[in-house]
Amino acid sequence: MSEFIPVLTKEEIATRVEEVAQAISSEYRDRDLILIGILKGAFIFLSDLVRHLSIPVQVDFMCASSYGSSTSSSGRVKLTKDVDLEIKNKDVIIVEDIVDTGITLSYLIKHLKSSGAASVRVCALIDKKERRETEVTVDYACHAVEKGFLVGYGLDYAEFYRNLPEVYHLKL
Ligand code: IMP
Ligand code: MG
Repeated sequence: MSEFIPVLTKEEIATRVEEVAQAISSEYRDRDLILIGILKGAFIFLSDLVRHLSIPVQVDFMCASSYGSSTSSSGRVKLTKDVDLEIKNKDVIIVEDIVDTGITLSYLIKHLKSSGAASVRVCALIDKKERRETEVTVDYACHAVEKGFLVGYGLDYAEFYRNLPEVYHLKL
């Protein structure tokens, strides 16, 4: 039997999302900000985050995959959807569900910089630290954990559990 151990309640998520949105709003005042959500995992986090921003913002999406249906990374990243907006000379923030090895993120950062973005920062719901393999900075994180496979609030296991309103550690 799999076990779901609570990690973040609805209230904790809401509080942190609002705090992060406030930090972004004050740091990006008077700049041309584009938030880029990484599909599919970031769709819920991004939708809550943008509604708490108090500055003008454009939203776009990218889709990258490095995982199959298992809980460990394949180590390869495939970009299956690029941004549609013109990002040249724009300040962009990548919005990720979770940063694990950092392989996906470092690939996406390189890609956006080579597309001419003026700056690229990272905002993640969860910064999972133990398996980091590349040096990436998570500029804004709602929550940090050492390890464990998390589901809920956009995070999936084999495409399930994204709809859970809280975040859980899934013990298989
Ligand atoms: P990374 O390239 O190893 O940093 O993997 C990042 C991606 O792997 C995330 O965007 C997620 O889609 C997936 N992932 C990593 N850890 C977890 C987890 O604990 N739960 C669900 N998905 C995860
Ligand atoms: Mg995923």
